[in-house]
Amino acid sequence: MSTQPATTTASPDDAPATDAPATDGHAGPTDAERVTTQTLRALKTAGTPIAMLTAYDYTSARLLDRAGVDVLLVGDSASNVMAGHETTLPMTLDHMIYHAQCVVRGTGRALVVVDLPFGSFQGNTDEALASAIRVMKETGAHAVKMEGGEAVAGAAQRIVEAGIPVMGHLGLTPQSIYEFGTWQVRAEDEAEADQLRRDAERLEEAGCFALVLEKIPAALGKEVSETLSIPVIGIGAGDGCDGQVLVSHDLLGLSTDFNPRFVRRYARLDERVVEAAERYVEDVRGRAFPSEEESY
Ligand code: KIV
Repeated sequence: MSTQPATTTASPDDAPATDAPATDGHAGPTDAERVTTQTLRALKTAGTPIAMLTAYDYTSARLLDRAGVDVLLVGDSASNVMAGHETTLPMTLDHMIYHAQCVVRGTGRALVVVDLPFGSFQGNTDEALASAIRVMKETGAHAVKMEGGEAVAGAAQRIVEAGIPVMGHLGLTPQSIYEFGTWQVRAEDEAEADQLRRDAERLEEAGCFALVLEKIPAALGKEVSETLSIPVIGIGAGDGCDGQVLVSHDLLGLSTDFNPRFVRRYARLDERVVEAAERYVEDVRGRAFPSEEESY
């Protein structure tokens, strides 16, 4: 007769290995010092590049946090890589809050920044503030990010005045893709470059703690990084920025149908995943899985 309580299905050999959640009930690392907006400012001052990646779920966030990534962005690129949409526009505030809750549970060190999705902040500053407050209250994240320049600077300022750190985002801002009509490099002509310079300064004045620059000429990325006192994080904005960000699915080679020049693939996990699943299918069909040791 079994001596195990009826409700217990786990036994010692079922125990998760080294990457298991800590037994004190805290899911993430417990001894790391949390990166803050001040840390990022100090890194800029010291000339130490800031490493930022996107994350959308608990398990990935845990691994990326363990790797020492400074900032984890719960990007609305979740719309593309998690939900399979063509653009980021369908993402809702509820979607972002769900992803952010998962990511926050997986991090102990990284600063967690959450994208305000399309339609959650452009209407007026009350709406923007209400959206940012929901993100902070319901997720435990540390900051929000907003796409746009002078047009959203008032909203950014209102959110900052409420005590919520805001990261700006200029250049090829995906929420405006239908206005741009193309995924080409932005701010190549002087008029658009000048507008970007003005937008960047306005966002700094509004109190943003950092700025993302996406797909613009490297020279402009460097110039803006040198002009602003807040950290500037580039994605396709050259090596003169204070830090870099990539979509983690691109870096890991999980999504391989998006191939802009700025993506560097550090792994081809797509091949590893398909290969592992193919071996599993073969084993199941050939009755090679489960073995006697894997059975009860
Ligand atoms: O949503 C996102 O992933 C982003 C990064 C590309 C900066 O905004």
